[in-house]
Amino acid sequence: MSALKNNAVIGVIGAGAMGAGIAQVAAAAGHPVRLFDAAEGAAERGLANIANGLEKQVARGKMQAADRDALLARIEPVGALGDLAPAALLVEAIVERLDVKQQVFAELESICAEDAILASNTSSLSITAIGAALTRPQRLVGMHFFNPAPVMKLVEVISGLATDAAVAETVFATATNWGKLAVHARSTPGFIVNRVARPFYAEALRLLQEGAADAATIDALLREAGGFRMGPFELMDLIGHDVNYAVTHSVFEAFHFDPRFKPSLIQKELLDGGFLGRKSGRGFFDYREGAEKPAAQTAEACTAPREVLLFGDPGIAAPLVDALRNAGIAVNSAPENDDGLLLSVGSARIALTDGRTATERCAEGTSDLVLLDLALDFATCPRVALAVADQADPAALDDAIGLMQAIGKRVSVIDDAPGMIVLRTVAMLANEGADAVHQRVCSAAAVDTAMRYGVNYPRGPMNWADEIGPDRVLEVLDNLAVHYGDGRYRASPLLQRVVAREGSFIESGEEQ
Ligand code: NAI
Repeated sequence: MSALKNNAVIGVIGAGAMGAGIAQVAAAAGHPVRLFDAAEGAAERGLANIANGLEKQVARGKMQAADRDALLARIEPVGALGDLAPAALLVEAIVERLDVKQQVFAELESICAEDAILASNTSSLSITAIGAALTRPQRLVGMHFFNPAPVMKLVEVISGLATDAAVAETVFATATNWGKLAVHARSTPGFIVNRVARPFYAEALRLLQEGAADAATIDALLREAGGFRMGPFELMDLIGHDVNYAVTHSVFEAFHFDPRFKPSLIQKELLDGGFLGRKSGRGFFDYREGAEKPAAQTAEACTAPREVLLFGDPGIAAPLVDALRNAGIAVNSAPENDDGLLLSVGSARIALTDGRTATERCAEGTSDLVLLDLALDFATCPRVALAVADQADPAALDDAIGLMQAIGKRVSVIDDAPGMIVLRTVAMLANEGADAVHQRVCSAAAVDTAMRYGVNYPRGPMNWADEIGPDRVLEVLDNLAVHYGDGRYRASPLLQRVVAREGSFIESGEEQ
């Protein structure tokens, strides 16, 4: 199905943060745009905001003044919904209320051409539910941009129960023409991004609540070991706890209180206390004048070892072993170890986390165990997390710290939490992605595109799970499920199937 022609008129309803951004994107692609807002003067203000943003680009030499003028000339603020009649595509970005959106679309139906496409930028309402108020719901589709729309590459194209597949294809192709990366998704709570991203916040909140580490350390590990652009706590503070909690709560409710999406008591407490994050001056961190951001816990210097023993094939930790060799540490080989050990150094035995605590593993027979968390890239990550078993000789931890420091890593020692921080988060992101695919919301490749370009994850969770090994991801989840004894960590049937057939989520060559 082909995209709308560049001369097709685009109508945008709502000239706030999103509507203005969407109008800019459409105008940048050459479309004449009509921008409407119910509030007096808001459409003009929206246009002025676009002009201000473009002015900065011109000042930085990123855009020619003539191009800016041409873009702005294509956007016309209009004073009545009826002025949108010539539009071929109408994108709604008004207040997030089902009744108001239904009413606006019902009015648009009587104003616009029969073949005009109606699109909603809603992030949490069901496209099926909005469409229920329409005479021809087949032409309603979700066109979900991310904030700021001119910058963020992703557009989720959402099909409701009645949406015509050709309409979704046209919007997909049009978004692609506008320089976006589009993904198809079925209208289900949170669509792709707002669903699959939930564990990024939820696991961090649970780990903090259980005292695995403080907020600054969890943030530092997800950034510096996990490769995420921001840690979950600084990100929640930026988004605002009112907004972030509301999204979590609406997804939880929409999934009929599935424990996987259970909101956090500590976030609720912040909300109740008015600690909304940056905008109120305090959230997990203090943003008031003169307040200092707490530093991540980092271990003091320990002695570097001269040699280590490597058990079997290091698998995903191979870059770490290479780094040891490069640092002049002798790596002696030993056969694979039944307890899943990776290395032995001094009195420490080091293993990658498998979702059990070090203490549980020690109780099953491995003495002096120190667990290592996942890193996006063990060769280049500046920080790693270690956790030590309660029963271990205290010298074991120092030996493991010295080893990691010898290859230039900062070390955060966290409490002995099951699955640690990065691997537990990534396993849960991959599990949620797998469940979305299992429930026919979208493809595995779409999950990866959505998370990389909607929320800037360093790697798509499905591709990341393939790299870690779906069997290890399943093992981590199964162990977490045993540890906590609740349904939150139940493995998606798709993950189980991929493991059973020794397959992968993303087949090689598949578009992402
Ligand atoms: P906003 O509050 O900045 O702007 C909403 C605009 O809609 C206001 O100018 C308001 O006057 C206007 N409006 C309200 N009711 C109207 C009506 N009946 N007819 C015409 N105009 C009306 O809101 P924002 O952030 O731009 O969000 C708009 C929509 O986009 C919501 O559905 C939201 O869920 C969704 N969204 C928001 C994102 C964000 O990060 N802010 C990201 C993706 C989607």
